[in-house]
Amino acid sequence: MNAPSAAEIEAARAALAKALRVVVLTGAGVSAESGIPTFRGAGGLWKQFRAEDLATPIAFGRDPRLVWEWYAWRREEVRKCRPNAAHVALARWMLSRPGVTLVSQNVDDLHERAAREVAGDADVASRGLPIKLHGSLFHDRCARCNHRVEGGPVNAASVETLPHCPECGGLMRPDVVWFGEMLPARAVEAAFAAAAEAEACLVVGTTGAVYPAAGVAHAAKGAGASVVIVDPAATELDAIADVRLHGAAGELLPPILAG
Ligand code: APR
Repeated sequence: MNAPSAAEIEAARAALAKALRVVVLTGAGVSAESGIPTFRGAGGLWKQFRAEDLATPIAFGRDPRLVWEWYAWRREEVRKCRPNAAHVALARWMLSRPGVTLVSQNVDDLHERAAREVAGDADVASRGLPIKLHGSLFHDRCARCNHRVEGGPVNAASVETLPHCPECGGLMRPDVVWFGEMLPARAVEAAFAAAAEAEACLVVGTTGAVYPAAGVAHAAKGAGASVVIVDPAATELDAIADVRLHGAAGELLPPILAG
């Protein structure tokens, strides 16, 4: 597909600039240029590993050691990566104007790191933080009592050496949403509340294959928002796009979000 024309980039920029309230929905594609594999693309994680073996409550019950080994590996891989130009452009834009709600399906922390790097101050950075619909790779949650802690180093040598809850001694699990699990209710509520009031919706780097997350874009569209989609490949949300830009987030977000 052709790279977007200057007119298409201007149409996207104008739709977002004139909207008082914007909801942004990101997926794995926004982190692709940072070196983090997507899920369904050519080199995607679900091509190398089977989701049902690693990202379900049954898989964790059957072999918590294997599941922790995979998440510990993903955590270390993400630590080696850096926010890319898309994360930085989005953080800069969010900190430069009011009315933008970022909703992310990603469990990496690159939006957060970009916001901290751009703001330079934790309080200001809080305005650039995402609503995380699928949890965080860097938090652990007790599988028994739900106590949450910052995720630390993981020794997956045996079940005994896996992280255990400091409160109840139960086995900790990655604080991410697995297939078949409910999403965090407050995150979903906040995401759909933002979509219901949005005048524009920017969708970046998601196939739009997974619900309820993809429903955020539909809810914004239903509320009358102009939908701008940035993705190099076709997505399941293309039919609701008002402006559809084919290309990489790291290349297109800086000009689209330029002040
Ligand atoms: N810039 C923008 N988009 C990109 C880039 C890039 N550089 N590279 C790839 N993409 C796009 C792909 O074309 C694809 O549309 O990113 C999208 C990635 O889609 P998926 O791999 O399906 O990831 P995502 O949509 O985030 O998956 C949603 O599914 O497996 C679950 O919980 C997991 O949060 C994830 C959810």
